[in-house]
Amino acid sequence: MKKRPIIIDCDPGHDDAVMLMLAIGSDLFDIKAITTSAGNQTQAKTLKNALKIMALVGADIPVYKGADKPLFRELIIADYVHGEMGMDGPSLPEPTLQPEPLSAVEAIAAILTESEETITLVPTGPLTNIATFLLAYPHLKDKIERISIMGGGAFRGNMTPTAEFNIYVDPEAAAIVFGSGVPITMCGLDVTHKALVFQEDIERFRSIGNQSGKVVAELMDFFSIFYRQERPELGGGAALHDPCAIAWLIDPSLFESRSCFVDVETIGKLTTGTTVVDFFNVLKKAPNVEFVYDVDREGYLNLIYDAVKKLP
Ligand code: RIB
Ligand code: CA
Repeated sequence: MKKRPIIIDCDPGHDDAVMLMLAIGSDLFDIKAITTSAGNQTQAKTLKNALKIMALVGADIPVYKGADKPLFRELIIADYVHGEMGMDGPSLPEPTLQPEPLSAVEAIAAILTESEETITLVPTGPLTNIATFLLAYPHLKDKIERISIMGGGAFRGNMTPTAEFNIYVDPEAAAIVFGSGVPITMCGLDVTHKALVFQEDIERFRSIGNQSGKVVAELMDFFSIFYRQERPELGGGAALHDPCAIAWLIDPSLFESRSCFVDVETIGKLTTGTTVVDFFNVLKKAPNVEFVYDVDREGYLNLIYDAVKKLP
């Protein structure tokens, strides 16, 4: 079966790492590049973490360094979730690859220019690299098939009462992406807080018996600490956010979604970083986003489990 060409932009990050293992292990994608964003940790750390995951799974996918900070704001990191190194918990192999010489934005431009087919972008961190690319290379916008993001949310935030981390870190970048006219799939907190991994799911990954299953389990062991302490409403589960952006591309039937108009607040005193989702189409504006709000949790975890089983 033909593999879907994609570029992944991520800030590994525990859930970004599992997303990468799903994308690689599923063997359904022609991953042209991995670009790294600053978010969960600094750019230096997310870049090294992406390279460590490549070493873990034995993938030879080019990795490109992205922006060190948001377009106009200072960087906010999530070390309180992901730890000092950004993927604390498991011991991982040192990188065997070096970052490529091109920047993330230059790489996206070169790949889209050379490609005869459109390419799907999958950002699962702040949208700084994607926005910068859209601003710098507007003529290449038509080479983007879709942008499938983890970010945002309609009914809740995790950085403010209404803003989700990836959008909040760089709201101006998010507004550029959502206003670009490129079709967007938005896997926000509405769905990712149902994409929960519990202890029994973690043990299932550990029982696979390969190194990747062990690493997923140890990543989730660490990732669960924050959720069990700070999100008791999730019943002991951890929100496995980022793999949703890939899983929706693999099997959208696992999800519930609605085409909506979505814009991003960038100046609100209380609401900066909020994705404003017009769920009932009260503004009568053309939809720009496939807003994803529910998931078959078992089916989702089976997708990841089956992919991780195929890895070293
Ligand atoms: O709000 C959750 C998002 O922020 C996820 O992408 C997580 O990795 C962090 O980047
Ligand atoms: Ca992320």
